[in-house]
Amino acid sequence: MTHAATLPACLDEAFRRLAAGVKDRRCAFHTPTLATTGLDGAPEIRTVVLRGFDGTQRVVLLHTDARSRKVASLLREPRCAVHLYDAVAALQLRLTGRCTVHSNDGIVEGAWRASRPASRKCYATERTPGSPVPEPPQAPTDPEMGRAHFRVLCIRFDRLEWLHLSAGGHRRALFTWRDDAALQCTWLVP
Ligand SMILES: Cc1cc2nc3c(=O)[nH]c(=O)nc-3n(C[C@H](O)[C@H](O)[C@H](O)COP(=O)(O)O)c2cc1C
Repeated sequence: MTHAATLPACLDEAFRRLAAGVKDRRCAFHTPTLATTGLDGAPEIRTVVLRGFDGTQRVVLLHTDARSRKVASLLREPRCAVHLYDAVAALQLRLTGRCTVHSNDGIVEGAWRASRPASRKCYATERTPGSPVPEPPQAPTDPEMGRAHFRVLCIRFDRLEWLHLSAGGHRRALFTWRDDAALQCTWLVP
């Protein structure tokens, strides 16, 4: 990847890669890391699949299970971060924002309708994800059992940090949106 020459070009590139990460399973941005603050105040991170991106609203969409630890954490502390790293492009993005957990609205219905049976089964485990069991449980057979547990996480970010590594000199930039005021952006020392 060549250096984006201007700050607007960096932001365009970031948004383009986020959109591509939703559609292309082979993109590194397809599987970002979501960081939350646990109920005990400790940091928690995990890999997730990037399911949606709306550049106009600055929203990323993720799917998860209502019973998961991350949902409890996000309901208590909606502030969270999303980390994306593409080793081929040598590009890291860090998004910081607030999450809303959607359970029974059009967003969830649409996402459920669009999801494949194999994905639906992820939410169909009988017991709570993460609970201890004496042996690995049988995989769920009925994908529709997952609907009750299916949730969509909408993360609206107000900070995007860009870092592009290059032998010719690294480039780092920060984009912030404050109270819906105009975008502020600056280069940072890498
Ligand atoms: C490649 C990959 C993709 C994953 N995608 C998701 C996902 O989209 N949603 C999700 O809830 N968990 C996903 N997981 C599982 C999470 O990383 C995590 O183990 C699980 O959600 C439990 O996290 P929690 O206990 O912090 O809630 C994925 C794991 C991997 C390795």
